[in-house]
Parts: sequence; C-alpha cells; structure tokens
Amino acid sequence: MTSAALLSAEDTRTATVASTTVDMREDYSQYLTPYQTALLATSMMSDNIGPDHFKCLDLGAGTGILSVALAERYDNNVFVDGVELDSRLASIFDAELNRLGIAHKTINADALSAPIESDYDRVILNPPYKKMAADDPRQAALPVRSPNLYSAFLMLAIKALKPGGQCVAIVPRSWMNGQYFQAFREWMFDRVSIDAFHIYGSRTEVFSDTDVLQETMLLAISKDRQKVEVRVSESQDKTGEQTVNSYPFSCLVDEAGDKTVRVRPVEPAVLGKLKTLKEEGLCASTGKVVDFRSRNVLSFDFKEGLHRLIYSCNFSDDGFKHPVKEGKAQWIDCSAEKQRKQLIGQVASLWSSVSLQKRSVAESRPIP
Ligand SMILES: C[S@@+](CC[C@H](N)C(=O)[O-])C[C@H]1O[C@@H](n2cnc3c(N)ncnc32)[C@H](O)[C@@H]1O
Repeated sequence: MTSAALLSAEDTRTATVASTTVDMREDYSQYLTPYQTALLATSMMSDNIGPDHFKCLDLGAGTGILSVALAERYDNNVFVDGVELDSRLASIFDAELNRLGIAHKTINADALSAPIESDYDRVILNPPYKKMAADDPRQAALPVRSPNLYSAFLMLAIKALKPGGQCVAIVPRSWMNGQYFQAFREWMFDRVSIDAFHIYGSRTEVFSDTDVLQETMLLAISKDRQKVEVRVSESQDKTGEQTVNSYPFSCLVDEAGDKTVRVRPVEPAVLGKLKTLKEEGLCASTGKVVDFRSRNVLSFDFKEGLHRLIYSCNFSDDGFKHPVKEGKAQWIDCSAEKQRKQLIGQVASLWSSVSLQKRSVAESRPIP
C-alpha cells in the first residue's frame, strides 16, 4: 500500500506541474517523477542491514518525490542531501521534507558545479535530459566529455557513491549505444556494476502528465565489481505487470567492441549473421517523421506525388511489404520544404539489416 507520505509528495508534484509553464519545464527539464515510478526505482535498491542512517543524495531533486520514496524504503532511517538548481523547487523540496519529518539538507545549486561528497550509501536521480554543448565550461570538471546533462549527472552520481553504494537513475535509453556515449559507457563500466534495468513498453507513459516523448528506463548500479547476471524487468506502463529475466552481463554488453548495451541477448538464430549499420555502410537517423505531428500531410491512400511512409510494420519475416493495412497512414506529401528535408533514401531494400523499431521514415524512392 502506498504510504501517506508518498501520496503527499505526489500531490505536491502534481500541484507543481500544474503551476509550471511549458517554457519553465523545458528550461530546467522539470519532468517530475510519478510516485509509481519513484516506488519502483527505490524497490531496485537493496535493504539497509546496518543500524546506521543511510546517507543519500538526490541529484536534481525537484519537489522531492524520489527522496520521499527513499525515506519510505528505509523506514526513514536516512539523511538526504537534495541538490536542485531552481530556487522555487528547492524551497518546495525543503518544505515537503520538513513536513514529512525526513532529515535532509537542501542544496540550491547547479549540481555540475557544487562540491559533492563521495561517501553516499544511496544516490537517486531523475536528471535533466538536455544536450550539453562541447564548449559548456562545466565539461571541464567531468571525467569524460558528456553529450547530455543526464550522462553528466550519472557520472556525478557514480563519483558520489562510496564503495558498495547503490544508485538508481531514471534516464533515457540513448546512452546504451552509439558513439556519442561510448566514452561515458567505458568510464562507467570501469567503475560500477550494472545490476538491473527496468524498461517501459511505451515511450509516452512515464511522464504522461508532462507530455514527454522519451524512451525512459530505470538503471540500477552499484560501486562494485560487475556482477555476473543483470536483472532485466519490463512493463508496458508505470503501473503494469512486470516480466523479469536475468541475463549474463557478457550477453548484454559488447565488451570487446564499442560497449553497446542490449536489454536482451541477441537471438541465437541471428548471432554471427547480424552486421552493424556501420558494417553495412549505413548510418541511422531516427525520428525523421513524427507521425502524430504530421497528420495534415499523411494519407492512407495513394495519390500522385506522394511518398511512401515506412514503419516497422512494413517489415516482416516475409520481407518488405508496402502498403499494409495496419491502421498507419502509408503515404506522405513531401511537396513542402519542411517535409522534403525528411525524405531519405531507399529504405525498402535494406529490410534485412535494418530494424526500424517503432519509428517511421519517409522514403524518397520513386513510386513503382
Ligand atoms: C527531470 S526533473 C526531476 C525532478 C525530481 N528528481 C523528480 O524525480 O521528480 C530534473 C530536475 O533537475 C533540476 N535541474 C536541472 N538542471 C539542474 C542542475 N544543473 N543542477 C541541479 N538541478 C538541476 C530541475 O530543475 C528539475 O527539478
């Protein structure tokens, strides 16, 4: 049963979301965690077996819901340092934790510039997700260059953990592959054990009340040697049933290569047969066409001059098929400049090597 404290933190969160403009949310990346996700995040941490208070850190603490969930997880046997840049949210955090009797210190500062200790038992974070410029002066203090604020915050979190300490982070999935995050992955794998992932089936679900379209995951790590198995749980949405599996770390992470991380091992049937996009001479560009924002130029029926719009449903074991009747518009009008820029080359011929997942692309190939 959810505690009164967590429900109070949830009320504070929803009231704050309601009183925050879209611009403010975007400026600070204030996508506050729903209580169900906060509960799941803290359930991924192990018990406190000692008599002492746990020293905890909440980086980008917002209104404090993750700190409240931590206090609940450890029967209030915690002291939480909450670091929050926005002074309005820092005072809401302070008032909320005072009201709930949770021992804490509120640090109203930029987490990337503030001095942060390195003896925390537990670190929790739902950091800001925002590109970080290469010439951002705060890069200099990071161990490796960070393409995004969230990976910079994760590095801070890892540095803040004491040996054996644990951290759960609510982050996008983009760190798991690609060159941009490779240095970060290498740095992280040298320092922590990847203990568990929780993956959501829907991209819109977790932060639905703040309209975030983001593939989000929960990542649990500990400052320890890498454990043999990684626990991977999955649910369609934030309240749904979970499926749980355990896989050897070595089956999920390309240790000899670029440290790409998978959420499940490669199917034995495709092992050795699957080439990377790079090996195929390709590069990926995702999210070219956001279909629900382009409804005015989409069409279910072919008309002269339209281009094919291709989804994962156009690819099956039998090959490439277009159009298909799957409830998705199969054609796009690219006569306007904006849509012309979204056109890409011949996707259909690449069906055997490219998994489009849930994305859609407009193809510039002439209609046969
Ligand atoms: C995604 S929200 C999460 C808030 C809260 N932890 C939660 O889970 O509801 C990220 C928070 O980080 C704060 N933030 C953004 N940039 C920051 C920075 N450089 N230093 C500290 N906090 C920052 C934002 O104001 C926001 O409250």
